[in-house]
Amino acid sequence: MFSGERVVLQPLAGNDHPLLRRWLADRELRKYAGRWRPSPRSGWRDPRRDEAFLILLRVGNRPIGFCGLFGISFDEGTAELGIVLGERDCWGQGYGPEAVRLLLDHAYRNRGLRQISLCVHATNRRAIRAYEKVGFVPECRLRIGRWLFGRGVEMIVMSSVAPAEQKEIRR
Ligand SMILES: CC(C)(COP(=O)(O)OP(=O)(O)OC[C@H]1O[C@@H](n2cnc3c(N)ncnc32)[C@H](O)[C@@H]1OP(=O)(O)O)[C@@H](O)C(=O)NCCC(=O)NCCS
Repeated sequence: MFSGERVVLQPLAGNDHPLLRRWLADRELRKYAGRWRPSPRSGWRDPRRDEAFLILLRVGNRPIGFCGLFGISFDEGTAELGIVLGERDCWGQGYGPEAVRLLLDHAYRNRGLRQISLCVHATNRRAIRAYEKVGFVPECRLRIGRWLFGRGVEMIVMSSVAPAEQKEIRR
């Protein structure tokens, strides 16, 4: 369990599944969650390569969304990051960046990872801004980054580098 100023990350458990199902019944959220859909049936996919957390408000313990690392490669020191605040009334209050900061801290300090990347819809300005606020930078633009409901969708790849690695980057 990781605790920030206003949010807490708690490992996802099997009995959180109905909550996730409710949040992902929302077509827009399903669209943004993309290929990252933690599921207890598959043990949150591959437990050696994926870690998923419920995001709760510290005050009142209200669950507001989920986030996680997936496709973790300890050899490469990399993983992808996903986050969905399922409770729409909690958008725009800075909870997302706070949860991502806690997750990055966990990835770099506890897991020893070096670089975290993600793929975001080019039109999802709120998410892009939220990621920028915690140090993600755009790396490249994929004109057809994903096929969604039969249509190609433009995506932006963003990444964050562990503080310890930043001075080691060679061009
Ligand atoms: C994306 C998400 C995690 C962001 O978390 P959040 O707590 O809502 O983020 P913030 O409160 O920091 O708000 C985001 C920022 O975007 C800005 N923003 C909101 N709508 C915007 C828009 N249409 N265009 C540009 N900026 C916008 C806000 O002003 C804020 O920036 P500021 O603090 O500099 O003013 C959350 O909104 C969410 O889960 N959304 C649905 C699922 C999703 O999109 N997941 C990401 C998949 S890649």
